[in-house]
Amino acid sequence: MPLTHTVRFIPHQRSISVAEDVSVLAAAQLGGMPLPHSCRSGRCGSCRARLLSGRVEYPDGPPPGLSPQETGEGFVLLCQALARSDLVVEARLIQTQASAEIKTLPSRIVRREPLSPDVMRLILRLPSVEPLEFQAGQYLDVLLEGGRRRSYSVANAPNTGSELELHVRRIPGGAFTAGLFDSLRDGALLKIEGPLGQFRYEDGAEPVIFVAGGTGFAPLKAMLGQALRTDTRRELHLYWARAMPRVCMKRRWCATGRPAIRGSRSIRNAPAGCMRRCSGIIRT
Ligand SMILES: Cc1cc2nc3c(=O)[nH]c(=O)nc-3n(C[C@H](O)[C@H](O)[C@H](O)COP(=O)(O)OP(=O)(O)OC[C@H]3O[C@@H](n4cnc5c(N)ncnc54)[C@H](O)[C@@H]3O)c2cc1C
Ligand code: FES
Repeated sequence: MPLTHTVRFIPHQRSISVAEDVSVLAAAQLGGMPLPHSCRSGRCGSCRARLLSGRVEYPDGPPPGLSPQETGEGFVLLCQALARSDLVVEARLIQTQASAEIKTLPSRIVRREPLSPDVMRLILRLPSVEPLEFQAGQYLDVLLEGGRRRSYSVANAPNTGSELELHVRRIPGGAFTAGLFDSLRDGALLKIEGPLGQFRYEDGAEPVIFVAGGTGFAPLKAMLGQALRTDTRRELHLYWARAMPRVCMKRRWCATGRPAIRGSRSIRNAPAGCMRRCSGIIRT
């Protein structure tokens, strides 16, 4: 039996028991504590928390989503951290929404279309009897051999049938993306798991500012698609920092006659008034 330790979360003063071979995040989830998280692979930094006392270890080495400076300041990534003593952790809790069932499904590549020299729009088709419920902003994992998985944001709005759109950037030598660009063919099967993540669009009346860089535009495209369908009077501002796949996507939206949608080619070119409103550090 693996050793167990107690983790106390502040300021909530809730405690859970954690086995040494289970990440603190996984144990917290089992204990019903809604901690923020997204990739569960040490990359995105969403599960960052401050370790106030105790010792953790990362079995696969320091996670890429935590800088040495953050480590020095006492931050840990709970999705990778294994407790090696009792811990006191300062973490925020999130408001949970009713989540759709997480499913593992086969999908077929039906279309691939270059959006830029290194970004591909990938259209996957799910079995028609197995729809995937998700919310705009969420992502899915492509399951690879050997238990490896890669995460991709869904770029289409929900309820658009059995096809899913992903925007995939080629990473030279990447275990998944190099094969996707060079050798996988239309018709190939990919196993996916989803929906995952808590990045979501919330209906409302307040203006929304969307800021994206590169394929970070994908979840925003899903949200904009949903907003166009539902929040017909809401003001939406879209800014992007790097070349956006096919600028025409934005042109298409701006051409819908919706004066509320304003696009700007880059944050640097945004109107001065808006820059004052939006200035600050954006962490992903
Ligand atoms: C929540 C979430 C959502 C994501 N959504 C998308 C998305 O919509 N579109 C998308 O293209 N990717 C997305 N990613 C990244 C994606 O999951 C993979 O990490 C990426 O496609 C690389 O996979 P690979 O197997 O080809 O490369 P790997 O074999 O994993 O990596 C090969 C090498 O490239 C480095 N590397 C990995 N990713 C990057 C990167 N992004 N930039 C620079 N170097 C890198 C690795 O450190 C490694 O050295 C998302 C990741 C997360 C956590
Ligand atoms: S959930 Fe992404 S780093 Fe932990």
